[in-house]
Amino acid sequence: MHHFSYKDGQLHAEDLPISAIADEVGTPFYCYSTATIERHYRVFKESFPQTKTLVAYSIKSNSNLSVIRTLANCGAGADIVSQGELERALAAGVPADKIVFSGVGKTASEMASALDAGIYQFNVESEPELQLLNEVAVSANRTAPITLRVNPDVDAKTHAKITTGKSENKFGVPWNQARRIYRDADEMPGIRVVGVDVHIGSQITDLTPFKDAFGRAVEMARLLRGDGHAIERLDLGGGLGIPYRQSNETVPPTPSEYGAMVEDLTKGLDLELIFEPGRMIVGNAGCLISRVLYVKNGSDRNFLILDAAMNDLIRPALYDAHHDIVPIKEPAANATNLPFDVVGPVCETGDTFAKDRYLPDIKPGDLVGFMSAGAYGAVQSSEYNSRPLVPEVLVKGSNMAVVRRRPTLKEMLSREPMADWL
Ligand code: LLP
Repeated sequence: MHHFSYKDGQLHAEDLPISAIADEVGTPFYCYSTATIERHYRVFKESFPQTKTLVAYSIKSNSNLSVIRTLANCGAGADIVSQGELERALAAGVPADKIVFSGVGKTASEMASALDAGIYQFNVESEPELQLLNEVAVSANRTAPITLRVNPDVDAKTHAKITTGKSENKFGVPWNQARRIYRDADEMPGIRVVGVDVHIGSQITDLTPFKDAFGRAVEMARLLRGDGHAIERLDLGGGLGIPYRQSNETVPPTPSEYGAMVEDLTKGLDLELIFEPGRMIVGNAGCLISRVLYVKNGSDRNFLILDAAMNDLIRPALYDAHHDIVPIKEPAANATNLPFDVVGPVCETGDTFAKDRYLPDIKPGDLVGFMSAGAYGAVQSSEYNSRPLVPEVLVKGSNMAVVRRRPTLKEMLSREPMADWL
């Protein structure tokens, strides 16, 4: 569900024609819908009517300050993985006691800053990390509330690059070592055990792996309580998939199906549940808008050459991801669709967004939109080929704001002082 639709023959973001935004900010640019972000947060939050929950939006999926503040205003917390994300969450107004800190490589200085800010919990991923956190906390005269991320060895059946819950993945502590590590944690003066954490991957479109992993996490919580630990919280991570195709051949579970499954598994346990959804909140709330530069007729295929490239949206190149591509001007109902390879200007064959994509007759100068690009789009962009990072625009009703502007080439070059011997 999203708020991008055709009105009067033009794709609109909420009440604004996208072509008008393009005229104002130039292309390419990311465009986000406030109503969609807010709706997805609400729908997710309301999927757990029986339970105390903290929805800690995973800000790695879209860390624009205005996006984070939109969610903070709805009551969301934040799941962070770096000092930069901590700064963003705080700057956007997320209260420190709604911030959880994930990630396999936290540094001592990141730990110190997060302790200083007073975050809600650290999701610890290894024994050496636990020991370091204890040392940092003791020397700062603080106690770090922790969960251990346990690796449930469950296959999330998603793309290999975004699977995290198998024993061969780098994430979490092995299941059969967890109880001993919790015992050790209890002896550490800078550590306070508060719960158990699990996260098995992203873009998961089937409830079964979630159910298997969460079942194991619940079992671990019971065992740990039996061992005498005060387990108050269960952090179930993120990962709920979204529909990427309007034609919808894979329909992900709805948040309410997901919520009912979770509430059933955790019934009567008196656990606070923490979730770290990213894509589910912002994925379908954003699109990347690009202009067609050329239509090139090759020897055996036709290329649509856009002004957006793999540096702006890397998901197709990195994960073979599909994004629906739609013309901004609504095609006639009887328009004939022709196959195009949709590519960008970067000098690599990998700079291909789609092959044999059927699109109506599109001409140079026309605008197209990559749908479902709100998550892992702008955040994964780079300046490859010395292309400036594209602007981000947030729409609310008929208002728009440029919430990240395009840097000038001069600014980009000025970040690189010349070596003084040159
Ligand atoms: N929690 C943890 C510990 C995570 O590692 C992640 C995502 C999330 C929560 C949020 O997962 P979500 O609800 O968004 O699925 N760049 C890839 C996705 C990488 C996901 C990394 N971790 C992509 O474009 O598909």
